[in-house]
Amino acid sequence: MTTLASGHTAKALEGDELARLLENFPSYKNGLIRLSPDDWVFSNGFCNFADKLYNFEFREGDVLVMTWPKCGTTWTQEIVWTMRNNPDLDNPDADVAIMDRVPFMEADMFSSSEDASEDQMPVSEMFKKLCPNGNPRDGVSFQMAQATPDPRSLKTHLPFSLFAPSLLEKVKVVYVARNPKDTVLSYLHHHKLFKAQSFVGSLETFVDYFLEDDLIYGPYWLHLKEAWQRRDHPNLHFVFYEDLKADIKGELKKLDDFLGTELSEDQLANVAKHTSFGEMKSRNNLFINKDMFKNEVIVDQEVLKKDGGFFRQGKSGDWKAKLTPELIEKMDKWIKEKCDFGINFK
Ligand code: A3P
Repeated sequence: MTTLASGHTAKALEGDELARLLENFPSYKNGLIRLSPDDWVFSNGFCNFADKLYNFEFREGDVLVMTWPKCGTTWTQEIVWTMRNNPDLDNPDADVAIMDRVPFMEADMFSSSEDASEDQMPVSEMFKKLCPNGNPRDGVSFQMAQATPDPRSLKTHLPFSLFAPSLLEKVKVVYVARNPKDTVLSYLHHHKLFKAQSFVGSLETFVDYFLEDDLIYGPYWLHLKEAWQRRDHPNLHFVFYEDLKADIKGELKKLDDFLGTELSEDQLANVAKHTSFGEMKSRNNLFINKDMFKNEVIVDQEVLKKDGGFFRQGKSGDWKAKLTPELIEKMDKWIKEKCDFGINFK
C-alpha cells in the first residue's frame, strides 16, 4: 500500500477483483491500482507519477483541459490551443502532433507499465527539443508538460482531487462533461480499438464495469461531481460536449471570454472550421506516429475498418441507436442515484 501526497492510498488490485477484470481485459495482466477513498482506478505506473502530478508547478497563464476519458478532450485541447496559438491558421507548429503541443500530463503511467512497447509512446522530436537532457524513464509526457513554453496548454483525465487544492488559484481549467451513455460507448470503442487496453467482453459487461466504477480512471460520476461543485469558480469553465456540438459558435464566444483571447469573428470562424470533426479526422495528428493506426500490434484492424478509428463518429446521441432498452433503464437508474448533485445531461 502506498500513501500519496493527495492523501489517498494506492493498493494493487488482486484476488477476485483482479480476476474479474482480467476475464474481459486480458491486457491488464501487468496490474492496476485502486485509490482509497474514492476508488479511482489506474494503471500501476500511476504511483510513479502521482505525487509529481499533485505537486506540479503550474504557472500563471496555464490552461488545463480536464475531462474523464472520451468526453471530447482532444477536440477541446485543439480548440484551446488553436484559439491561443493559431487563430489565423498560420502557425507552422499546428502540424506538430496535438499530444506534443498540449501534453497529456499523466500519460506516462501507461508507458511505464511493463507491457508497453516503445511504439506506443515513442520519444518525439518535440521531446528531444524541449527536454534535451531528459531521460524518457522519468516520464516523457510529464517532462514535456514541465518544459512546454508559455502560453502553456495542458490536458488531463485526472480529477480535481488528485491535484493540489490551489489548482484553480493559478490555472484556468476547461472542464468538458458528456452524456454518460455516449461516453461509455466511446470508451468501449477505445478499448476495442487499442490492443494495449483490449476488451473482449460484451457491451452489457462493459456497461456494468462502467457503472461499478471499475474502468481505468474509475468513477465518472465523482469526476463530474468534483468539477460541478467548482463550476462557479471564475477560473473554471464547465462545458458540455453536446453544447459544443449544438452551437460551436456560441461556445467559442464563451471560451473566448473565459480565456481572454479576444478573437475576431473571422478568427472564431477559423477555429470552428479547423477543429471541426471532419478536419480533425482528416489531419489525424493526435499522436506523433500517424502510421501506428496501420500497426496491427497496436490497433485492431477489423475494429478500425468496421467502427472507425480514434475519430469515430463525433456525434451526440449515438446511444439511442446502440443501447438496448434494458441498458438505458440501468443507466438512467445510475444517473438518478449517482449524479444527484444537480447536473442535467443533454
Ligand atoms: P466518439 O467515439 O463518440 O466518436 P477524447 O478525446 O476525450 O478521447 O474523446 C473522443 C471522442 O471525441 C470521440 O467520440 C471522438 O470521435 C470525439 N471527437 C474528437 N474530435 C472531435 C471533433 N472535432 N468534434 C466532435 N467530436 C470529436
